[in-house]
Amino acid sequence: MKYALITGANKGIGFETARQLAQKGFHVFISGCDETKLSEALKNLEDETDSAEAVLMDVSKDESVSGAAKFFSSNKIKLDVLINNAGILLKEDRSLVESDAELLEMIINTNSYGPMRVIKTFIHVMNNPGRIINITSGGGSMFEPVGGWSPAYCVSKTLLNSFTRHLAYELKGNGISVNAVCPGWVRTDMGGRSAPRSVRQGAETQVWLASEAPQKLTGKIFRDKSEIEW
Ligand SMILES: NC(=O)c1ccc[n+]([C@@H]2O[C@H](COP(=O)([O-])OP(=O)(O)OC[C@H]3O[C@@H](n4cnc5c(N)ncnc54)[C@H](OP(=O)(O)O)[C@@H]3O)[C@@H](O)[C@H]2O)c1
Repeated sequence: MKYALITGANKGIGFETARQLAQKGFHVFISGCDETKLSEALKNLEDETDSAEAVLMDVSKDESVSGAAKFFSSNKIKLDVLINNAGILLKEDRSLVESDAELLEMIINTNSYGPMRVIKTFIHVMNNPGRIINITSGGGSMFEPVGGWSPAYCVSKTLLNSFTRHLAYELKGNGISVNAVCPGWVRTDMGGRSAPRSVRQGAETQVWLASEAPQKLTGKIFRDKSEIEW
């Protein structure tokens, strides 16, 4: 049995990723920072699998992440897959010049340092070989046209892409691959109703990376199961 932890998985792309991994035979741990939403999500997942658990974890807080990691070490659970999916997109994020420093700090702390914090804390409970997958966005690309929407969010995803590549290099010797996935524009609370993609499509590439892609793929950014420039 393979074990996967997905952050920010009480809804949206994270929940669907957990659902698809459970269908492929993974034991999935869904995590989130709201106990009520998390237990509701677990109930929904349990309609489809008896191999799911919920772990309370706010990726923006050191104590919360280390508390969650203790659950795994004390139960001697080793993760095969860690998916850093939790993220925020705030409507106040309109201008880098006019926004308060706190706004930028909050977004980077959740979207960029959140995954780093989780990786640093969970690396000791990961299997070799193991896979880390960071959920990024086309907004973080320096290759596609830059600008026009949620600049702090876009910067946070550029930073996440950069973390991904540096970590891939650093963790190669540990047998752990580190990649990022852009899910495309997806119909969720974050993506809104006009987005062209379903959550099923938005989860497919990370599920493929977690389960089927060659382990040697590392340090890359993917969309639709293909490497993209960023
Ligand atoms: N939807 C898109 O079009 C799109 C496009 C590109 C990239 N993405 C990326 O895909 C990922 C999932 O997005 P989504 O569209 O599924 O968004 P969503 O529906 O808003 O879900 C985001 C999830 O992250 C959780 N979360 C937020 N802050 C957290 C924290 N501090 N600790 C733990 N969990 C936290 C949320 O929990 P609560 O419900 O408790 O807030 C929720 O479960 C994000 O990283 C996003 O940037 C999405």
